[in-house]
Amino acid sequence: MSDTNAYTQPLNSNVAMLSKLETEAEIRFTGAVYTPYPIAKALVAKALPLCEVKNLKILEPSVGDGSFIEALLEHEMCFDNITAVDIDDVVIQKLSKFYRKEKSTSLSFVSSDFLDFVSANNNADYDLIIGNPPFIRKHNFSKNFKEKLVDLSKEANYNLKYMQNAWAAFVVASEMLLAAKGILALVLPYELINVGYGKKLISEIFSRFEQVDIYVPDEKAFKSIDQDAVIVIAQKKNRGAKGIRICRATDLENLDAISQHKLETHSSNDMSLELVSFLLPRKTTSSLKEIRENFQKIGDFCTSAPGLVTAANDFFILTENDTRKYGLSNWVKPVLKKGSYLTKRPIFSQEEMCDLSAKNLPTNFLYFDPVDSVSKDANAQK
Ligand SMILES: C[S@@+](CC[C@H](N)C(=O)[O-])C[C@H]1O[C@@H](n2cnc3c(N)ncnc32)[C@H](O)[C@@H]1O
Repeated sequence: MSDTNAYTQPLNSNVAMLSKLETEAEIRFTGAVYTPYPIAKALVAKALPLCEVKNLKILEPSVGDGSFIEALLEHEMCFDNITAVDIDDVVIQKLSKFYRKEKSTSLSFVSSDFLDFVSANNNADYDLIIGNPPFIRKHNFSKNFKEKLVDLSKEANYNLKYMQNAWAAFVVASEMLLAAKGILALVLPYELINVGYGKKLISEIFSRFEQVDIYVPDEKAFKSIDQDAVIVIAQKKNRGAKGIRICRATDLENLDAISQHKLETHSSNDMSLELVSFLLPRKTTSSLKEIRENFQKIGDFCTSAPGLVTAANDFFILTENDTRKYGLSNWVKPVLKKGSYLTKRPIFSQEEMCDLSAKNLPTNFLYFDPVDSVSKDANAQK
């Protein structure tokens, strides 16, 4: 979930020669697009000073081409050892070879599915877990990953249905491997704050930390792949502030917050307004909260359901004349094609539907019910 093109930029590196997965199809299954170095560098610079212990034990759960390793090595005096995991054996081989020649021995590279690594190291206590986990949708999970998720869900006491993308599972699993004063510092997709399973992660997993800062950039994080992202820095223990804060930042290369907003996670179950309130003037947020608390919702009076999408309304929705002309009366259901056919009254009646039909407006949805079709066809032919 990051910007492949941007990675070809600065500095560092030698690492840039490491392989990149090339096709979008591959990316869907591996989530392998790498973090631009300036973002990795900014996150490392922000997270390291927060670690209270000396001689840190650090984990990079999905190392890719190693931009976080390179950024960490600029602060070599701070840590004791780094373990870097990736499912892609090619990148692990390349990184091992590269750092064996060039860098210190306190680095170990592990070729493994991260969830297998978690099962094999469930007593680990990392001081810092840092990286950018893969963005892989549930329907593209490997069989092994799916099976491990079931175990993870039990061990972490976290409902399986909320791990709908690999990054969510990585957050849950990483939390389990942290030391008592550990820190989780991750680049995550913007979905964290705008989809249901992201919000669940905030309310259930991030509540296991004393302090959580979610940096939301004004600019798109990874422009070339049109991907928004946020950065999360979660501290198991914090002497100062407590709670979850949304920190607005200009971009993810610069993590000095322009503004901060503390989330009221306990005040209501629905955090949607809280999570976007950094975008609104304070007064507007308060008014919206007041309206929400004092007024009944549309849902208190009626239910709503999505309409149907035919993808070709002019073909599938017929007028009464055409329905008769083609002998299709047995295979249509009444449908309201356009909102503009509605009257201004709150209730749309059967009579009004008949009026539309009498005006020969398209109101008959062509529907071949697989169960009914055979009998209707037989009747029609009699
Ligand atoms: C978004 S990239 C991030 C790489 C690197 N952390 C960075 O920020 O540049 C995700 C990485 O996750 C790896 N990956 C995908 N599924 C994995 C899994 N189940 N366990 C470990 N690594 C995985 C991919 O091979 C890829 O290198």
